[in-house]
Amino acid sequence: MSQQRKRTAVFISGRGSNMAALVKAAQAPDFPAEISLVLSNKADAAGLEFAREHGIETLVLSHRDYADRIAFDAALDAHLRIAGIEIVCLAGFMRLLTPWLVERWRDRMINVHPSLLPSFKGLDTHARAIETGVRLHGCTVHFVRAEMDEGPIILQAAVPVHADDTPDVLAHRVLEQEHVIYPKGLALLASGRLRVENERTIVSDERPVRDVLVVPRV
Ligand code: GAR
Repeated sequence: MSQQRKRTAVFISGRGSNMAALVKAAQAPDFPAEISLVLSNKADAAGLEFAREHGIETLVLSHRDYADRIAFDAALDAHLRIAGIEIVCLAGFMRLLTPWLVERWRDRMINVHPSLLPSFKGLDTHARAIETGVRLHGCTVHFVRAEMDEGPIILQAAVPVHADDTPDVLAHRVLEQEHVIYPKGLALLASGRLRVENERTIVSDERPVRDVLVVPRV
């Protein structure tokens, strides 16, 4: 690959399994991004250990140490710049970012959300999917915008909802697909194959849909 691998930061708040999926994908020599920094707003985020074990620089910035959201986001931004970061992946980062920061990273900041957006924004998506009775649920990789769980969709994966599913069982089925589509989404962005027009994502050289829609057997 002639291009430099894009320096990528992953923001986590907890378990960090999506971060781990990105790290593993980026170990492939032809992956167009490298995970250069894992940043957490919580010192006890379990994912930090995985990052350290994999030789990745980690940083903990607690929002409690800053006067307000703007001050916290200015510190985040400063650290990203110092580290020469080009792409930010939110991966279970449970903190709303200010419009200021989101705008600074417009079309260079992506997120994974555990639902087929625009359905089920926010928390407890799996319980709400079961309660609503939808037959298909899933996950979405999207560009980040200032409104929560909004932004141009990059990839989605759908999974069936079974009659006897509990939220935990369904969450596990969805999470497996998050780990598939998040690395794919990052690779598309890092290799320069995405552009946003009228708040829709255009993928250049788009492959057949079977590559981006993952529906396991019922
Ligand atoms: C994931 O399911 C992710 O989609 C979700 O938090 C979980 C984090 O798990 N994110 C959101 O709900 C953001 N709106 P992980 O720490 O194991 O990646």
